[in-house]
Amino acid sequence: MSVSKEKQFKVAVLAGDGIGPEVMVEALRVLAAVAVKFSIPYQLREERVGGSAIDVDGVALPDQTLQTCKESDAILFGSVGGPKWESLPPNQQPERAALLALRKTFALYANLRPAVCLPELTHASPVRESIVQGGFDVIFVRELTGGLYFGEPKYMKHESGEWFAVDTMIYWESEIERIAHVAFQTAMKRNRHVTSIDKANVLQNGILWRQTVDRVAHEYPEVKLRHLYVDNAAMQLIRNPKGFDVILAENLFGDILSDELAMIAGSLGMLPSASLGISKGNGRYFGMYEPSGGTAPDIAGLGIANPIAQVLSAAMMLRYSAGREDAASAIEAAVQRVIRSGLRTKDIHTEGTQLVGTTEMGKAISGAL
Ligand code: IPM
Ligand code: MG
Repeated sequence: MSVSKEKQFKVAVLAGDGIGPEVMVEALRVLAAVAVKFSIPYQLREERVGGSAIDVDGVALPDQTLQTCKESDAILFGSVGGPKWESLPPNQQPERAALLALRKTFALYANLRPAVCLPELTHASPVRESIVQGGFDVIFVRELTGGLYFGEPKYMKHESGEWFAVDTMIYWESEIERIAHVAFQTAMKRNRHVTSIDKANVLQNGILWRQTVDRVAHEYPEVKLRHLYVDNAAMQLIRNPKGFDVILAENLFGDILSDELAMIAGSLGMLPSASLGISKGNGRYFGMYEPSGGTAPDIAGLGIANPIAQVLSAAMMLRYSAGREDAASAIEAAVQRVIRSGLRTKDIHTEGTQLVGTTEMGKAISGAL
């Protein structure tokens, strides 16, 4: 059977800096295996991004990289940044010039960040065993293209002998509505419970957020909704992470709280993420898929990084951009089997389990498929 080129699922592969390239190799290994198993024709185009692009092309997001992304169905992203580029002017740094630019260019407003703590890995959590016993499965739905990150005006100015800085928090009702729909629809496929985060006791943005989420909630009568102030949410997450299902938050609150819960879950090296744009109508989205963790420059090149976050990001890509739930769940099941069999990278290793490197872990997962 021959497949026309148009039917190929096109992936822009942007491995980036730090551990990005080494964990990407393993994600591509697993992708290749699952593509054979489920007969998914796909095409990869690898491009430079981040600090490694600055070194070669002078900018963090070269035109060619952007062009390839535009010609693709999805972006599989590694991670960008590192000490080498931290002294550049802020708007040239990899995080802003590549990551935030890609989010904005492709209007990737919906950031899905699963925070899963597997029952086998509760020991890796820094919180008491009694709190995480049995593991937990929560997902953040973070608004990604609005709020303080992108609001205008945004500047720094010198006046009356000192500097001052302005960032603008602005949300339009329509922006809150569309992300709320994502949260409620996500909840409908899970335990039907949404916790919405705001600061309605202080911010006008919080009042509008709460009102709008309440209104959208009427369309989902089966979903239970509760509102939490962001400071209280920070406490409740550590007191009882199992009490959450779907967490809906604006950009900055979601940034902060999703890191908190990732840490409670045990390993940043296990957690993927998806950043989605408007649906293409067939249940598929253009999306960017990346590990929740960063470049981990301290362990880059040592072959010890956990590739699971990158592998699971590829699974999310198959689910949301290729419409292949079957292949996505197969990867997730393979990861769980490998964990159950006792294989562990350094970040999640304990006595009685088998310590492996990045490559061995990737091979084990593709083998388990
Ligand atoms: C994230 C990161 C980014 C963010 C940084 C690198 C700009 O922390 O994806 O959570 O703040 O969104
Ligand atoms: Mg963050």
